[in-house]
Amino acid sequence: MSKIKVGIVCGGKSSEHEISCISAAGILSAIDRDKYEPLLIGITKSGKWVLPPHDYNLTIQGDVLPEISNELPETSIEKLKIDLLFPVLHGPYGEDGTFQGQCEMAGIKYVGSGVLASAVGMDKSFAKPIFQAHGLEVAPGMVIHQSDWQIDEVRILASATEFGNPLFVKPARSGSSRGTSKVKSVKELKTAINFALQFDTKVLVESAIVGREIECAVLQVNGVALSSPVGEIKILGDHEFYDFEAKYLDDSTEVVVPVHLPFGVQEEIQNYATLAFDALGCEGLARVDFFYTGTKIIINEINTMPGFTATSVFPKLWAAGGIGYSDLITNLIESAIARPLNVTR
Ligand SMILES: Nc1ncnc2c1ncn2[C@@H]1O[C@H](COP(=O)(O)OP(=O)(O)O)[C@@H](O)[C@H]1O
Ligand SMILES: [Mg+2]
Repeated sequence: MSKIKVGIVCGGKSSEHEISCISAAGILSAIDRDKYEPLLIGITKSGKWVLPPHDYNLTIQGDVLPEISNELPETSIEKLKIDLLFPVLHGPYGEDGTFQGQCEMAGIKYVGSGVLASAVGMDKSFAKPIFQAHGLEVAPGMVIHQSDWQIDEVRILASATEFGNPLFVKPARSGSSRGTSKVKSVKELKTAINFALQFDTKVLVESAIVGREIECAVLQVNGVALSSPVGEIKILGDHEFYDFEAKYLDDSTEVVVPVHLPFGVQEEIQNYATLAFDALGCEGLARVDFFYTGTKIIINEINTMPGFTATSVFPKLWAAGGIGYSDLITNLIESAIARPLNVTR
């Protein structure tokens, strides 16, 4: 039997371009080459599809992050001779339904959630009310649109401060904590809103939740969403929260599995994770992030294409759940092949 040709797509137009490259390197090193023939496909920061050579560097060199170069030979989705695409793309133009729409238009199957679930999962201002409608608790907060902010800053600041102190400010479609701030005064709040608006035209202000950050990986196996053991994010060193540097650059965080939680809490979080996955109609995989306050489980967000290096949280949680990195990749590819295009769960 001839091997299935899988296009591993990385880079992209979002601020998570570099992280995406690192995830793709992991997949290329672990994909089962007896079954699949991977082809690396890059998307440059300007959105051009290119074909990097086999030995293209996708790893961190010192403190220099990998990037898809503009100089590489150009290609397009229509020109590719592949059976399936595996978009290891995070953030806008990758994880937000736009890439998925392009695959649908081209009639090419792809790993992960479809157009709708990807779009809703990416935009916290839409995901939160859907989670709430399914009985999940979310952080109290409000959405600020850039156009309103420009007209009525004073009124918006007054409304936002009603959510308490400290507050979190973040772009509606953030990722990797970019544009996110924790603020403790109105002056800081104003600066934080302007900062977050550099990343998106819509910004969320939320009460700061005091609690442990617990994450759960969801994998769809034969059409059924399964939860991994939960992991706890431990932030060491000098970080106010789980920010970009803590996530990727200075080894200051670790995910701890198993997590010591009161009896029944892990199971409850696992149930909420699959509930959230199904609420949005996700496919394939997702990582669902929660806060546990000691009394409440609050959902923070869902990531429909979570970090996917061998040492990322998603593979680590599944390793604890008994599914290794290569098997995860195989499972995702098989699920994508089995799923018809243009279907919303
Ligand atoms: N309401 C909140 N309360 C407490 N911490 C928060 C809140 N919102 C975000 N954070 C912190 O900021 C980090 C990034 O925010 P998150 O909403 O997960 O955005 P991203 O999509 O960039 O990961 C979280 O992991 C958490 O540490
Ligand atoms: Mg997050």
